[in-house]
Amino acid sequence: MSISRRQFLKSMVLGSLCAGAGSILSSCGGVTRSALFAKAKLNSYIFGLDDRDEKILQYASLAPSILNIQPWHVCVADRRKWVISIDPARTAPAIDPGNREILLSIGAFVENLSIAAAANGLRAEVSIIAQSPFDKNIAQISFIHKPPLEYPLKRLELRRTVKKGYLDKPLSLETEYALTAADKDHFFYFPSGTEHAACIRDRVIEQYRIQLDRQEAQAEIIKWMRFSDEDSEKYLDGLTLNSMEIGGIPGWYLRHFAEPPDFLKPRYRDKSLDYTAALSREGAGWIVITSKDRSVSSLIETGRQFERTALLAREHDVAIHPMSQCLEEQTGMDQILSSHLDEFHPQFILRVGYLESYPAPVSLRRPINWFLQT
Ligand SMILES: Cc1cc2nc3c(=O)[nH]c(=O)nc-3n(C[C@H](O)[C@H](O)[C@H](O)COP(=O)(O)O)c2cc1C
Repeated sequence: MSISRRQFLKSMVLGSLCAGAGSILSSCGGVTRSALFAKAKLNSYIFGLDDRDEKILQYASLAPSILNIQPWHVCVADRRKWVISIDPARTAPAIDPGNREILLSIGAFVENLSIAAAANGLRAEVSIIAQSPFDKNIAQISFIHKPPLEYPLKRLELRRTVKKGYLDKPLSLETEYALTAADKDHFFYFPSGTEHAACIRDRVIEQYRIQLDRQEAQAEIIKWMRFSDEDSEKYLDGLTLNSMEIGGIPGWYLRHFAEPPDFLKPRYRDKSLDYTAALSREGAGWIVITSKDRSVSSLIETGRQFERTALLAREHDVAIHPMSQCLEEQTGMDQILSSHLDEFHPQFILRVGYLESYPAPVSLRRPINWFLQT
């Protein structure tokens, strides 16, 4: 950084402290969800879909996805038959070489789509057409008219990944039951303070460190980071400073003076590890979600179950933070598999915890006509 730039930065930071940090920071808050929906509205005119179809697709797009990649394509063969496929430009081969997390993300998308359709008087019949995780077309959806189901769709809008501010309190039996009862064979809760929870935490930190040292993994993550408002608005995907919960003066500094590749520098690497280690010590413990097997249909089903749980968690004001490095790094997966039976197929490692208050969603989404095809 040049002297003049440094001086400028120093004077700005000092100025903000004198004037009250809020005044300067609030003017640099990043691109918001409301801006994105305004943009989506402007663009949603094509493909012969009516308002209801567009609404269903918009709710579907609020699904969580690995790195907020939003890997979905929707091909509208006719108005009542849609094909969901993987956008080949939206995969993450260095951290997800088998498309496992891409398929889990598509599963979450399908779940949101089905919920929104049902609430709007359409039953979505989903059939999985992919044989391999590398097939382009994954699922076909056809719709049948039905009386609308009552469902609070606001939940889909309000759900988000939350990383910070977890209370140091285990889940009550009622909450545990609500989040895991749907599938007792595949959902496992390990309260913080137990030996198993400590073991998961230590492995998460260890595998995070291993991934930080793997250049190709870091290069891939950086590709999906959006620090500047300009990039955020241009791409409407990926990880923003807001969604990474890097706020205050560090967030302001990064937004204006750093580029994603700066994260490769040892200084940031160490900070990142410390930050993740501190986060992983917060909260009520861990939920591990497993699947029946590793087939495409099981991964889609597990992604759907995960999203159902995330939505229920939102209802109970419980935060959920997937921490996937143990499952992404070969050494992490090998360790887990070697200490479990053959039929154990872990797909999500989620840190969970109560919050003082659940924050508003901040991650960006692309408008529907960016992922629609004829
Ligand atoms: C399969 C999958 C894996 C994920 N892994 C991680 C992870 O390792 N670390 C993390 O911070 N978030 C992880 N997430 C959360 C996404 O980053 C998040 O869903 C995305 O940024 C969109 O934000 P939202 O959930 O607030 O809408 C994962 C999500 C999915 C669906």
